[in-house]
Amino acid sequence: RFSFFCPLQLREINVTRNCTTITILVVNDSLPGPTIRARKGDLVYVKVHNQGPYGVTLHWHGVKQPRNPWSDGPEYITQCAIPPGTNFTYEVKLTDEEGTVWWHAHNEWTRSTVYGAIVVLPRKGSNFPFSTPDGEHLILLGSWYKEGTFLNKALEMDLSAGGYTVPRATGYMINGQYGDFVPCSNETTPHFSVDYGKTYLFRIVNAVVGSEMFVSIADHNMTLVGIDGAYTKPIVVSYLMIEPGQTMDVLVTANQSPGRYYLAAQRFSTENIEFTKFVHEVATAIIQYKGNFSLTSPPSYPNDTLPYYHDYGAAASFTQQLRSLASEEHPVDVPGNVTTRMFITVSMNHVPCPDDSCDYGDYKIASTLNNISWEDPSVDVLQAYYRNISGVYTMDFPDLPPVMYNFTGDDLSTSLADAAQGTSVKVLNYNETVEIVFQGTNLLDQSEYHPMHMHGYSFYVIGVGFGNFDNETDPQMYNLVDPPKVNTFGIPKRGWAAIRFRANNPGVWYWHCHIDRHMSWGMDTAFIVKNGDTEETSMRPPPSYMPPCITSKDKPYS
Ligand code: C2O
Ligand code: CU
Repeated sequence: RFSFFCPLQLREINVTRNCTTITILVVNDSLPGPTIRARKGDLVYVKVHNQGPYGVTLHWHGVKQPRNPWSDGPEYITQCAIPPGTNFTYEVKLTDEEGTVWWHAHNEWTRSTVYGAIVVLPRKGSNFPFSTPDGEHLILLGSWYKEGTFLNKALEMDLSAGGYTVPRATGYMINGQYGDFVPCSNETTPHFSVDYGKTYLFRIVNAVVGSEMFVSIADHNMTLVGIDGAYTKPIVVSYLMIEPGQTMDVLVTANQSPGRYYLAAQRFSTENIEFTKFVHEVATAIIQYKGNFSLTSPPSYPNDTLPYYHDYGAAASFTQQLRSLASEEHPVDVPGNVTTRMFITVSMNHVPCPDDSCDYGDYKIASTLNNISWEDPSVDVLQAYYRNISGVYTMDFPDLPPVMYNFTGDDLSTSLADAAQGTSVKVLNYNETVEIVFQGTNLLDQSEYHPMHMHGYSFYVIGVGFGNFDNETDPQMYNLVDPPKVNTFGIPKRGWAAIRFRANNPGVWYWHCHIDRHMSWGMDTAFIVKNGDTEETSMRPPPSYMPPCITSKDKPYS
């Protein structure tokens, strides 16, 4: 086993984009932060030096961290924030994942500027399950908030105001840049150079805080070969739909007439139109053929393969094609006999307004899983579980919503949207086989995609559909042969998705929507997976130092 050390320094710097300079928290003075390159099986010690003005945590999105939730990172779930002026070392152990995963901050909305890629190459002596590409390019999709890292405070204000003033991205970026078509931006448009006739692996990370994205390259097809650090059956596509949190690896052959072509990334919006107020919708980069052709010829634009931003059909037909590679070397292991079955509604709800400043009068907006809006505890769940601290969480997360109704119907009664609030977790025995059907709802007329993300695991998506899940007919359509294996999957607007996993990673693992405003509004829970009988099937003990729990929301650093 190979291990190495990677220092990350967090501090605030001034960054200018779109003609405006703001102060943001970044890693190693760059946006996005540095890429961690490793091989499957490596162990990376990441030492985080927090030189910023407030507490932060980092999370290794897609890294399963077997038996070691202590290094997983989400604030109030597995740790408290690393106080300013202090260090914390994460152990990032790459075991099962291969391809592209990523890292990001995991407290409040700090991940909008604190993120980077993790490239996991095959073990030494192993190869990709496709011909070795001639080159590689990394694409991190990000969002820009012209208000900067004020986000914690803005969000607090927003929550007390009832929800709707929640900060919205000013626009989207590729590798920290807007690209052409945005004022003051075309000098820094990212360029990816290619040689005619060669094939490149593009590793794409959707680090956007709140949107699904469509991605396409003018005149070029892409061959999808991996998602979320797992290989897929190759599919040839003209665009991608990538959920926030997901990563996709695609092969692109430079086989068009040598020139310049736009790679464009655009929001896929599934919200009701009245909530959409974005400024710059499209981020661009240029794929540039090397060689002797006129550089003055403008690239072709727009990409006619980039779907319209409200094109649900394009999104659905893309995700329906996803399959695991399911080869001898990369087998599929969908758990059979299910021991725990859950049916979880993912929903927009409301809860009583704490004061008199809410948009809905007596209510403020909330998001829920099974009608419970998650409340962050003051001590992380992992510590409370390990040390038997009572009163931090309850173990009553329900396997079913409290009432059954026509989830995806129109004109649902507003009283159905009354949500409970709490820190309610689900407990699983070691090695249970779990099936979850996530059911989207149309409560408050606010159905949209919800990219549900699980920490500590990847899961198989064995079924997806629109409307209400049908217990009789839908399970008959499950794909148990080569379903895609992901850590994040979009529950479609007014639809459902069924997933399975084996609970073989003991610890405390966060489950949440990867759209940060939904996560902040409560679309979260945690699964406690109990220890097995042996040491190898039990959680590791905590490291000698964990950051103290003093960064509670009520006592922020000033
Ligand atoms: Cu990408 Cu809980 O995170
Ligand atoms: Cu959501």
